[in-house]
Parts: sequence; C-alpha cells; structure tokens
Amino acid sequence: MAKTAELIIDGKTYKLPIIEGTEHEVAIDIGNLRDESGVVTLDLGYKNTGATKSAITFLDGDKGILRYRGYAIEELAANSNFLEVAYLLVFGELPTDEQYKKFTDDIKLHTMVHEDTRKILDGFPSSAHPMGVLASMFCAQTAFYPESLDPNRSSEATYLSIVRSLAKMPTFAAWAYKNAVGHPVNYPDNSLDYCSRFMKMLYALPAEQYQPDPVVADALDKLLILHADHEQNCSTSTVRIVGSSKASIYSSISAGINALWGPLHGGANQEVILMLEQIKKDGGDTDKWIAKAKDKNSGFRLMGFGHRVYKNFDPRAKIIKKAADDVLKKLGVNDPVLDIAMKLEEVALRDSYFIERKLYPNVDFYSGIIYRALGIPVDMFTVMFAMGRLPGWIAQWKELRENKEPIGRPRQIYTGQNLRPYVPIKKR
Ligand code: CMC
Repeated sequence: MAKTAELIIDGKTYKLPIIEGTEHEVAIDIGNLRDESGVVTLDLGYKNTGATKSAITFLDGDKGILRYRGYAIEELAANSNFLEVAYLLVFGELPTDEQYKKFTDDIKLHTMVHEDTRKILDGFPSSAHPMGVLASMFCAQTAFYPESLDPNRSSEATYLSIVRSLAKMPTFAAWAYKNAVGHPVNYPDNSLDYCSRFMKMLYALPAEQYQPDPVVADALDKLLILHADHEQNCSTSTVRIVGSSKASIYSSISAGINALWGPLHGGANQEVILMLEQIKKDGGDTDKWIAKAKDKNSGFRLMGFGHRVYKNFDPRAKIIKKAADDVLKKLGVNDPVLDIAMKLEEVALRDSYFIERKLYPNVDFYSGIIYRALGIPVDMFTVMFAMGRLPGWIAQWKELRENKEPIGRPRQIYTGQNLRPYVPIKKR
C-alpha cells in the first residue's frame, strides 16, 4: 500500500502521499495541499524542499557520497575523462566506442564561434569580469542560432545545441580572459584534447609557442569531472527554473553562469585564494583568522568551508586535496598558500565552532591552488567551475524538458502593508 503522511491543521487531517527515491530518500508530496487546505509550505533557501525528481546525480551529504548516473565520483575521477562524463550525464549511459567517437568528433566540428561574437567581445571594457563576459557570450548564441529559441523543435536540434555548447565553452572562456588582459584572441586548435585546446587559447605568449603539457591537461580534466554536476544547487536550480519557461538552452545556461558567479557558490574558489593570500600577507596567523570567522560581527567567513548539503565531508574536496598535492609535486611548484590552507584546515577541524556546525573544506578550498599551479589566473577560477558544470546544466535542462515539468513558480507569505489609500505627493 502506498505510504502517506498526515498533517493536522486546525483539527482537520490531510493525507499527503509519500514519495520514495531509488536510494530510499523520502519526500512528502505537498503538491495538492494548497488546493485542499489553502496552506502553503515555507522553506527559505529551499533548505528542505525537493524541487524535482531527477535521475542524474545522487548525493548523500551525511555519508559524503556523490554519484553521476550511479557511478561513484571517485571511480569516474580516477578512470574516466571529462567528455565521457559529459556524455554519461547528458545521455544517461557511458558511451560505446562508436558513440564516444561521434560525440567528440561532433564537438571538434563546432569549436569555432561565429566571428561576429568577437564584435560583442570587443564591446566589453577590459575591466569586465570574465564571468559576466562568458554569460553574455552564451546568451548571444540565441542570436546566432535563433532556431534554438524553440526548445521543442526536434531532438536533432537539441543535440546540436548541446554539442555547440560543450564545443564553444572553452573558446568563450579563453576569450573572456583575453578581453580582460587586452590580448588578441587565439582560435581553437582541434588537434588537441579538450583541456589542452582551452589552455592554448588562454596562453599568454603567441599560441604557436604553446607546448601541451599532459600533467596540466590531466589535472584540469579531473577538476572538470569533479565539478560536472551537483544535483539541485543554486545555479542548476536556476537553469531548471529558466528552462521551465521554455527559454532556450543558451539563455538557461547563461542564467546558470550568472548564478554560479556569486561568492557563496562558484565564486568561492576565487575568494579562497584571495583569502589565503591575505592571511599570508598578514603574517600567516591562522588562529587570528579562525577567530574572525567565528565572530559574527566581523562579516568574515572562512571561504571554502561549509556546504549546504555535505555535513560530514565533501568527497570532491578529498580527491582535490590529493590532486593538489600531486600536481604541485609533478610541476615542481612550491606554493606557500598551500601550507596556509593546510594549517587553516587543521585548526578549523579541531575547533568546536566548526565541528558543531559541521563545517568542512568544500570543493573550492583546494581547487584554486591547483588552478594557480596550472597558470590559470584568479579571475578565471569561477569560469573553470562553469566549464566543468556545463554538462550538468545541460543534462538537467534536458531532463526537465523530457519530463515535461511545469513552469517553476514558488509561492510566498506576504509580509507587507495591508490595503491603504493613495496619498497625493503634496499631502505626504
Ligand atoms: N565560516 C564561518 N562560519 C560559517 C561558514 C564559514 N564558511 N559557513 C557557515 N557558517 C556558519 C554560519 O554563520 C551559521 O552559524 P550559526 O548557526 O551560528 O548562525 C552556520 O554555520 C550555518 O551556516 P548557513 O549559512 O546557515 O549554512 P548554509 O547551508 O545556508 O550555507 C554555505 C552554506 C556554503 C553558503 C556557507 O557554508 C558559506 O557561506 N561558506 C563559505 C562560501 C563557500 O565556500 N561556498 C562554496 C560552497 S561549495 C561550492 C558550491 O557548490 O557552490
């Protein structure tokens, strides 16, 4: 028999269906509650609200589990590559040899961006943050591919938009940076793998001098895998809610990029490095900064610590910490902020404030240290996150469309003025 929950409001009992997921997570379906009782639920920040049923990513924050389509993140990070993971997320299964070849060949075919995009890029001052430029260039694709404005057009058209998005992302990302430093843009070199192609376009010296480095490409590829999806986080929920209005894939992704930009979300990786540098400049006294993070009046938070869902450990942070160690060793880089990061982590993990609130290092705590070692500028850290998260946004947008989900439109509890008469300006 189907399970139900009972809710009593003013003595009247309402039966609410219980929904169970494949990993036995349980939800109370309140979809009809308002119609039956006139009552809505209130949950600021959606801390305990399921917004959808999704078959893409499973995450257990208490146990530190993260799986894409049933595959453990640890296994994918160790054995797969970013484009294979992208295929898995978007299409639901790992590709066969033939499917992988077609997918990666299709991506190579679309790495160039319409030359007019450069005119749009030229319109941005070099003070523009690469995240804003990236979001704008993504949204501008609706102009170059107006057929994408109809997301119901055909599955072939959707496939093409997906491939174009993945193919052009490294080009847009590198160009956004070139704009910031006032350098001429480099064009994609399709003889290279996804990450080396990006690095060559980002390269500061003339692109002909660029020598792909497998250590750099592998480290970057691993980071992109670890960021590829994270179920219903702020930017992904944004992509889904924008997509639910039948907006195009490009505008939905552009909205996701903007949501990711904030320092409490993807922008944290940039903030972590800035914070570590500040601590170093200040003499490296980690106890002082821990005390500041605990002082609610200071307005300071330990960036790269805490997570809405992970309350034990962030499995991505574990992999990244080890990867940071490996990369620095392989590249022979000695970064003093790594020592500060490790000391900060050590102190925080022993401190009752952090223990009681279950605040652990998150994915962003060590990723910036790797990006820096790979020669990626700080302003580009969140762009790297966006590049990694793109397959997840695409998969979630596609799932929403395939599930024919209704337009996202939350309710509210109004706390403003009651009806009052208008007063002309001279009488106020
Ligand atoms: N430093 C100091 N105190 C903190 C921190 C922190 N980084 N994070 C949370 N707290 C405290 C917070 O003040 C609150 O204390 P109290 O209960 O005494 O009021 C308690 O811990 C719970 O915090 P919250 O803000 O209610 O938790 P949340 O789930 O709304 O926020 C978070 C999660 C990630 C936004 C938050 O932990 C934070 O601001 N962390 C720093 C920014 C960061 O690293 N963001 C990257 C997240 S991972 C990448 C991604 O997926 O976006």
